[in-house]
Amino acid sequence: MVEDLKAVVLVSRYIAHDSVLFYENASGVPFTAAYIQAKGDTIADLYEENIATEEKARATYQWLIDMTDDCDLQDSLKFLREREIIHSLRFCETVEILKNGRGKKKVF
Ligand SMILES: [Fe+2]
Repeated sequence: MVEDLKAVVLVSRYIAHDSVLFYENASGVPFTAAYIQAKGDTIADLYEENIATEEKARATYQWLIDMTDDCDLQDSLKFLREREIIHSLRFCETVEILKNGRGKKKVF
């Protein structure tokens, strides 16, 4: 296993954390709860925390696609990129539904 980690340049991670899960971003910054944000306004939160995140993921997949000439890997990344586009579109649709319902009395 150590040889496998060395092969993928994860030696420093192994030295610091053995083989446990240790959440960090692509730059090596550990995950914290500060990443979870909420304004308290559903529409604002959907734009800031959901749609923006999906679009950033889409852009990242596109950059990864641009970095490889492996067709199989590109196909997988394209699938993931399309998935992020669909997620973003669904959140945008949700925003429109919420905007249309603003100010209307809700009866349950
Ligand atoms: Fe997504």
